Amino acid sequence: MSGEMKRSGLSKGAPAPRFSDLESLREHLGDCARCSLGSTRGRLVFGVGDPHAGLMFIGEAPGRNEDLQGEPFVGTAGRLLDELLASIGLARSQVYIANVLKCRPPGNRDPLPEEVELCTPYLAEQVRLVDPKVIAALGNHATRHILGTDRGITALRGRLFQVDGRRVVPIFHPAAALYDQSKRAVLFDDFKRLRSVLEMPEENEPAHAGQMPLL
Ligand code: URA
Repeated sequence: MSGEMKRSGLSKGAPAPRFSDLESLREHLGDCARCSLGSTRGRLVFGVGDPHAGLMFIGEAPGRNEDLQGEPFVGTAGRLLDELLASIGLARSQVYIANVLKCRPPGNRDPLPEEVELCTPYLAEQVRLVDPKVIAALGNHATRHILGTDRGITALRGRLFQVDGRRVVPIFHPAAALYDQSKRAVLFDDFKRLRSVLEMPEENEPAHAGQMPLL
């Protein structure tokens, strides 16, 4: 139904295979060819950062620079992400960064549902292993997938959600602010809110799963 919250995409589909650490999961993925992106990508982009970070960012999929370097958010959007992190006193090495897809879709097209379905168990396992208290969903695609909704990021940003015991904060994708300057200020504001969500004591947690306005 339009606009309705459903089950998180992270817990749908095949059960995530279990691993003892991120290195073993990465090793298991190997030179992944589980979907057709395996034959068009340059490098598989697994994830980067503190393996036990309290804050995990999830974007959509690697772009051209990420595909070349094998690391998420290293292009222009990534530089803005670094700036946003610095604005709340964090460095890339203190958080964990991953994407819904681990391989670049050709020409940066949108991820296909079958690609998302095949890749999600591995993202879900990354989330379980890192075990962040807070997930920042970057942009429409990641937010819709993680929250299991078809509502857009403009309606969801500025709010706090709970998914499987974790706080989820939807935020504009940094790439959106590269083309629309008005989104830049909103992004910096949203990062301030993210900082306060990180610092929020657990006793302030909403008692039930769902959403809580942050504005
Ligand atoms: N955009 C994303 O969603 N992820 C990246 O890693 C880079 C750009």
